[in-house]
Amino acid sequence: MIFKNINRLEGEIYFPGDKSITHRAIMFASLSNGRCEIKNLGLGRDNLSTIRIFRDLGIEIKKNKDRVVIFGRGLNGLKEPQNILDAENSGTTIRILSGILSAQPFFSVITGDKYLVKRPMKRVIEPLSLMGAEISGREGNRYPPLAIKGNPKLKAIEYELSIASAQVKSAILMAGMYAEGTTVVSEPSKSRDHTERFMKSLGLPVKVNQKKVSISKVSEIPSFDIVIPGDISSSAFFMVAGSLIKGSHLILKNVGINPTRTGIVEVLKKMGADISVFNERYINEEPVGDILVKGTGSLKGVEIKGDIIPRLIDEIPVIAVAGAFAEGVTLIDDAEELRVKESDRIKAMVTELKKMGVDVEELPKGMLIKGGRKYKCGKINTYGDHRVAMAMIVFGLISKEGVMTDDRSSIEVSFPDFIQKLNEVIK
Ligand code: S3P
Repeated sequence: MIFKNINRLEGEIYFPGDKSITHRAIMFASLSNGRCEIKNLGLGRDNLSTIRIFRDLGIEIKKNKDRVVIFGRGLNGLKEPQNILDAENSGTTIRILSGILSAQPFFSVITGDKYLVKRPMKRVIEPLSLMGAEISGREGNRYPPLAIKGNPKLKAIEYELSIASAQVKSAILMAGMYAEGTTVVSEPSKSRDHTERFMKSLGLPVKVNQKKVSISKVSEIPSFDIVIPGDISSSAFFMVAGSLIKGSHLILKNVGINPTRTGIVEVLKKMGADISVFNERYINEEPVGDILVKGTGSLKGVEIKGDIIPRLIDEIPVIAVAGAFAEGVTLIDDAEELRVKESDRIKAMVTELKKMGVDVEELPKGMLIKGGRKYKCGKINTYGDHRVAMAMIVFGLISKEGVMTDDRSSIEVSFPDFIQKLNEVIK
């Protein structure tokens, strides 16, 4: 299938539930005191992995078309799994779950697919071991599989993260719910705060002070119902495509606009895009809004570095595409975490953009892009990475010549109906 040179994008789009919030909703519901109903759940492969794992841990989960019902068994209701837990491609599942498993009175092993077993795990093993869990991993405790001998008597720690990571922060906070005392985590820049907000919405003893979060021992989690906001990371592909294709008019409905996730909107505005957020409201402590994107057809290059990076980390592949079509130079820096995502996203994007004729230079922590318009047609590699695949498809839609993809199956990891939603708004 070739993706190329479309005329215009127009229409309203509803997005599947935010992947990050969905993972957390499944986890909190499973540990809650009873029946929880979750609507607009993200049903990409990553979220399905979390559902499957909680079933393997003895939780009853009923999945209908538009909702999932989870029968929580309480903080201490998980069962020792009979077999190895498989997080497939999901870093969020393996890392946050390792925090929960660390507090259980049983043994478990968790692993993933050929991409996940290459992702760094020392960052969770270290703090969770300090709390009293026994965790080991491959290659000197660096990579999955992780073998976890949980400890029901965890102790609280004060821990300073050396990298801004919501997955690691959340693993520690999850374990902190079980630990005697108050667990405190601080991070160098603020990463997404969905775990903290969820805990607050459930009335749990969580406190947030800028980049510092604390949680005291939790006695119980009440059951809850929730509607998950649309995924801003999925909507980002439409923000970029809509901005770059002149005459486009898109309304992205019910999108989560948590300030720890809206870096993409700020960057696109700085690049000169015509984007506005309206109809703002709250769902369970999470801000939601509609986003209007009007295609001006031209953007200008910008510098993206520093504290904003964690607030747009998953959008960098598509921001690189925006940079490729922008006038002038776009610099992305301080984004070394991109090298340990589902693929090395710096290398992947630089390689694929270069293949299309983009003037782009790989930097240790990012890339330097000199924008242009006339690019070649070509077949791209997706490196089994959903965000690289979708970003390069957006590239194809804007370029005259277009792109063909090697394998699009990774898109199912976060946004199974991406192509369908795209087709609905191509005019
Ligand atoms: C996520 C945190 C981020 C992000 C990932 C989802 C989360 O990863 O890239 O897609 O849901 O907590 P890090 O915590 O590794 O930065």
